[in-house]
Amino acid sequence: MALIFTVLFIPGSQNSTIPITSAVEGQVFLAPIAFADEPFLVVIDTGSSDTWVVRQRFACISITTGLREGQDQCAFGPQYVASSSFTEIPDQNFNVSYGDGEVLIGIVGYEEVCLGNVTVPSQEVGLVDIAAWNGDGKSSGILGLAYPSLTSAYAGDEQDSEQDSVEEEYEPIFIRMITHGLIEQQIFTLAISRDESSGGILTLGGLPDPRDVVYGDDFATVPIEVLGSPQMNGSSRFDPDYTFYTISIDGFPNPNASSSFAPSPQESPHSRWPNVTNIQAVIDSGTTLIYLPYPVTKAINSLFGSQANYDPTVDTWFVDCNATAPSWSLTIGGQNFNINPLDMIIQGLDGSCVSGVQDAFNGFSILGDVFLKTVLAVFDLGNAEMRFATRQ
Ligand SMILES: *[C@@H]1O[C@H](CO)[C@@H](O)[C@H](O)[C@H]1NC(C)=O
Ligand SMILES: *[C@@H]1O[C@H](CO)[C@@H](O)[C@H](O)[C@H]1NC(C)=O
Ligand SMILES: *[C@@H]1O[C@H](CO)[C@@H](O)[C@H](O)[C@H]1NC(C)=O
Ligand SMILES: *[C@@H]1O[C@H](CO)[C@@H](O)[C@H](O)[C@H]1NC(C)=O
Ligand SMILES: *[C@@H]1O[C@H](CO)[C@@H](O)[C@H](O)[C@H]1NC(C)=O
Ligand SMILES: *[C@@H]1O[C@H](CO)[C@@H](O)[C@H](O)[C@H]1NC(C)=O
Repeated sequence: MALIFTVLFIPGSQNSTIPITSAVEGQVFLAPIAFADEPFLVVIDTGSSDTWVVRQRFACISITTGLREGQDQCAFGPQYVASSSFTEIPDQNFNVSYGDGEVLIGIVGYEEVCLGNVTVPSQEVGLVDIAAWNGDGKSSGILGLAYPSLTSAYAGDEQDSEQDSVEEEYEPIFIRMITHGLIEQQIFTLAISRDESSGGILTLGGLPDPRDVVYGDDFATVPIEVLGSPQMNGSSRFDPDYTFYTISIDGFPNPNASSSFAPSPQESPHSRWPNVTNIQAVIDSGTTLIYLPYPVTKAINSLFGSQANYDPTVDTWFVDCNATAPSWSLTIGGQNFNINPLDMIIQGLDGSCVSGVQDAFNGFSILGDVFLKTVLAVFDLGNAEMRFATRQ
């Protein structure tokens, strides 16, 4: 059963520490949340902005065929029943889709939502009635922690898909905690864990107690950027152009080089290590893997030798499940972060294994859980910056 704190948060007290549960063999990270008095687990997603749960009697739709199938095929946790504190917003609908083909449709309204020690009396949320969803068997929805411009409420009745849908932007839950003064510092911190028995810690209002998470003293600090405008900081702490938590990666040190900044003798013009610098990447806890530009992805996966192969029919780098995974690092804010070889081989349900680093194609780069498992990630919305420290 999920651990739920129902104590009202008193500003000025401690940071609210929320224990994370992991699912799908450490590939998905969940937080306990309550809608009124109904407890759920929801996927912690820094790459989207809506907080929603699935409603009783929802229709489950197959992602591949679009046909209706049994609710169990969507593999949700408990379903939201009803609550006297929920108020539907009339003439709006909820319609969100995610990168992997999942689509959720339903209604929006206000509900009392409790996350950690913090109760948000009237949070706009989505309730889902139609779901094309690949669930993990535990979670009932998503906790969307990104900026308002990515919210998914639209004007009009949900049946009315003919009209041009006008987005009805709203304040996501963490932004609302800030604007309503419910937390002391405008910060949340994520420390997801490789160890499946303890999924890690999400902290609202500051950093976790150092007794709970062990991390280094040196923080790499980088501004949160506007996606598509590299090196451009937002115009204000809550720039309306902010979408995802977007930062710049300085580069990818050649694993052959003894020092990341001094060129080594091996770094001859013949070196095949690509010189890719200053690229934007989205910090996304809702994505399991890392997605990087093709030259970098190819170079990193080539470190597996013949144990990694790219399959163009499914656009995926597969690896031998028993391969010896390489070490490599990326540089953020002048600091190198080593990706743990343990996180570089991910086994799928069918038993095959994929590499922790995949091609971003022409889309943006994403640093998902394979990266986040190595760091304490501080999302400092107040200062419009992110800070990362290496975790032990
Ligand atoms: C919740 O807040 C209370 C005081 O308001 C504090 O004593 C308690 O430690 C907090 N719990 C967590 C998990 O942060
Ligand atoms: C949901 O949005 C998509 C476009 O993103 C649209 O094609 C679809 O008709 C919408 N569905 C409903 C039920 O409004
Ligand atoms: C709360 O976070 C701040 C930094 O954001 C930190 O200085 C402080 O020690 C944290 N408090 C607790 C009780 O962990
Ligand atoms: C962006 O912010 C950083 C500090 O967070 C600062 O050093 C840099 O000069 C800023 N860049 C621009 C273009 O404003
Ligand atoms: C690393 O060095 C070895 C031997 O010097 C060389 O064969 C290999 O191509 C180099 N790898 C990269 C990525 O530069
Ligand atoms: C990996 O090693 C295990 C035993 O350590 C063996 O049972 C399995 O067949 C190997 N898998 C592959 C793909 O080589």
